[in-house]
Amino acid sequence: MKAGPISAILAAVLIVLFAPAPAVHAADAENGRRIADRWCASCHVVSGSGAATNRVGGTDAVPTLASIARDPARGPNWLRQWLTAPHPPMPNLNLSRTEIDDVVAYLETLSR
Ligand code: HEC
Repeated sequence: MKAGPISAILAAVLIVLFAPAPAVHAADAENGRRIADRWCASCHVVSGSGAATNRVGGTDAVPTLASIARDPARGPNWLRQWLTAPHPPMPNLNLSRTEIDDVVAYLETLSR
């Protein structure tokens, strides 16, 4: 078969489909913050200072998100694994990989 317009179109479609794939979703810390506000903040206080300490549900038994973010033993890969599997007493949050990446990116902003 000779390379006609169809294969050219097909090639273009394939390039569009696959080439930018890794760039389509760069982890979005802002979206991660929204996810954390909605799904994590009911249990995890964001940080130990300021108004956040008064958030309903934050307790000493639950580490703050900032303290998790600052812990050198809890790097991005560790966090991804933690969030991928259910961890009682944490509910199974069923976050997608994209959402997990966003939350991890958000946590990284807290560690600075
Ligand atoms: C229903 C309450 C609850 C919710 C909601 C919740 N957590 Fe947790 N989380 C906990 C508790 C309690 C622990 C402590 C578990 C333990 O020590 O075994 C914990 C532990 C963790 C740890 C491990 C900390 C460490 O140093 O071992 C991480 C990371 C974490 N949570 C992140 C999150 C994130 C991110 C979210 C939101 C996407 C979230 N959690 C939502 C209750 C919750």
